[in-house]
Formats: sequence, C-alpha cells, structure tokens
Amino acid sequence: MNVAFPVPCAPLARAFSARTGLVLVATLVLGLVSAPASAQDAAAGKEKSVACVACHGPEGVSANREWPNLAGQKFDYMVKHLRKFRDGIRNDPLMEPVARTLTDKDINDLAAYYAAIRH
Ligand code: HEC
Repeated sequence: MNVAFPVPCAPLARAFSARTGLVLVATLVLGLVSAPASAQDAAAGKEKSVACVACHGPEGVSANREWPNLAGQKFDYMVKHLRKFRDGIRNDPLMEPVARTLTDKDINDLAAYYAAIRH
C-alpha cells in the first residue's frame, strides 16, 4: 500500500516544483521590470520641476555659468546626487535647501523628467 504512493506522485511532485520555479522566476522578472515604471513618473516630475526652473532654467537648460544643465542628465546619476544633497553628503548652499524638501518619490519623478528631455 505504502509503496504505491511515491511512484505516481513523483512526476506530480516534479511537475509541481518546476511550475513553482517558473512562477517564482516570472514573478521576479515582472517585479524587476514593473518596479521602476511604477516608482517614477516624468509627468509628475515636470510639475515638480517648477521648484528648479529659477536656477536650472526652463526645460533644464541653465542660463548661469555656475548652475548645471539638467536636461538629458542620466536618471541614476540625478537620483544619487539629489539624495546626496538632501542627506547632507554633497554640499551646496543653493541646492541643499531645495533638496531637503524632496521625498524619494519626488526625486525619482524629477530625475525621470529631466532624463527624458532631448535637445
Ligand atoms: C537656488 C538655485 C537652485 C535651485 C532652485 C535648484 N538648484 Fe539644483 N543646483 C544648483 C546649483 C548651484 C548646483 C551646483 C552645485 C555644486 O556646484 O555642487 C545644483 C546642482 C544640481 C544637481 C547636480 C548636477 C550635477 O551635474 O552634478 C542636480 C541633479 C540638481 N541640482 C537638481 C535640482 C532639482 C531637481 C531642483 C528642483 C527640485 C533644483 N536642482 C533646484 C542650484 C539650484
């Protein structure tokens, strides 16, 4: 009686674990692909960029020699440096007060907006 069980169950168990593995992989891949899309919103970033225009110019092109352009800047670089300003790791008397008001979501949105500008 007991011996009969493992035989028909083995293929089932194998099928189950293969399926489970596939589902896990699919979940991981989907998670990786969809996470950045939901975490950043360039349209929202454009609205938030009114706080940056005075120094970085309309559409991220600055008119001042000491203020950098942001148009076309790399997304990851902007996120990294906005966090540094906000967290007091990179220091600038003009940038820090602005950056201190930003949430992670604001930073992602702003970086997505500026990274998408092409001139
Ligand atoms: C009062 C002027 C001012 C405002 C407003 C301002 N910035 Fe800046 N920003 C600066 C200056 C000046 C620098 C250069 C700092 C330095 O020399 O390290 C800078 C640097 C940066 C950098 C780093 C650029 C690089 O190439 O390393 C980023 C990113 C940035 N600003 C984003 C923003 C965003 C986004 C906003 C709006 C939320 C904003 N800034 C608002 C003055 C400003």
